[in-house]
Amino acid sequence: MKSTQEYKDLEKKYYMQVVNRMPPVLVTGKGTVVTDTEGNDYLDFTAGWAVLNLGHSHDFVTKAIKDQAGKILQMSNLFYTTPQLSLAKTIVDNSDVDRVFFCNSGAEANEGASKLARKWGKKKLNGAFEIITTLNSFHGRTQAMMAATGQPHYQDNWRPLMPGFVNVEYNNLKQIEEAYNDNTCAVLIEPVQGEGGVNVPDPDYLRSVQEFCKSKNILFMLDEVQTGMGRLGTLFGYQRFQGVEPDVMTLAKALGSGAPLGAFCSKEFCSVLEPGDHGSTFGGNALTTASGAAAAEFMVENNIPELSLETGKYMMESLSKLMSKYQIITEVRGMGLLIGMEMNKEISGDIVSKSLEKGLLINAVRPNMIRFMPPLNVSKQEVDTAINIIESILKDF
Ligand SMILES: Cc1ncc(COP(=O)(O)O)c(C=O)c1O
Repeated sequence: MKSTQEYKDLEKKYYMQVVNRMPPVLVTGKGTVVTDTEGNDYLDFTAGWAVLNLGHSHDFVTKAIKDQAGKILQMSNLFYTTPQLSLAKTIVDNSDVDRVFFCNSGAEANEGASKLARKWGKKKLNGAFEIITTLNSFHGRTQAMMAATGQPHYQDNWRPLMPGFVNVEYNNLKQIEEAYNDNTCAVLIEPVQGEGGVNVPDPDYLRSVQEFCKSKNILFMLDEVQTGMGRLGTLFGYQRFQGVEPDVMTLAKALGSGAPLGAFCSKEFCSVLEPGDHGSTFGGNALTTASGAAAAEFMVENNIPELSLETGKYMMESLSKLMSKYQIITEVRGMGLLIGMEMNKEISGDIVSKSLEKGLLINAVRPNMIRFMPPLNVSKQEVDTAINIIESILKDF
């Protein structure tokens, strides 16, 4: 193995410099712990960016990947392959959607959903093509998804943006009603905004948007890329909100449990895509869907989302105790194990680097906000360790 510095030199020389990386070079992971080239362990409260909901190198998933690798990795979707079908069935059996298309990432899942919505507009709404999304959302980095993502810093270098997306305030039905016009074919929102600062909507927001969509015959689409697969305490995030059933739902991140896998799913009435309308060479690949099928099976059979609910409550309570001790914390918010800690100073960067020195990986989602998204099977002791590290840092501010 090369030295840590040699790996960093390789990165500097050969990799496109689109991100300022954290110092450790990580080589292994098990459960909530990752280890770097120098043998240092870190508690991973980023879970590979809300991907490893079952933790790193989960035995059941790893075995499924190994077994599948020895059988067949890839065919085109012109042919039947088996793991994608068992994962599609698990998704449909445990949700309110009827049909699934697999792709490779969250951005692609939202692209697919947007194509479906435009086809809906073409067939049912005289060619309506516009999709209403929200400010502070995050839907991915493709050309179209940058327009869907309501955050100027993801958009400004790439103007003019792709037409057909309107960004309105989150948690504000009135703005959706006002943005609606004859060209609108759908609304696309996150059940809880992740990247935008862990924003939890009012309890009746999603349902009222859904009702509005129904009244106008436009599609109610939920981006569950970050909230799906147990993160909020139910298998799909929308299941935490009474009376909510999306027409279209997108998934990625934890769907493949570390293998690159996304999906867009729809109810039968709006499954308007026909042969030739959409496709993907790798989408539904046998290896990635074998990983996803194993992860979903394990998650459902062992009721992992329930753990997220329980441990999430425990972690929110622990952070709230910190808030009552340290005035610098102004709000703790979230759902399940998607938790944000807001502060009255822009010190997230400092907190992230000090945490790293003390063996904890966390994410600064805003200059004044830390996001926690550990594996859903994180132990309460690991949560305690993380909280103690955060407290030891806050003491100095
Ligand atoms: C809600 C949401 N949608 C879409 C995406 C984009 O997913 P990907 O990075 O896999 O394209 C993300 C990524 O963070 C996300 O959080």
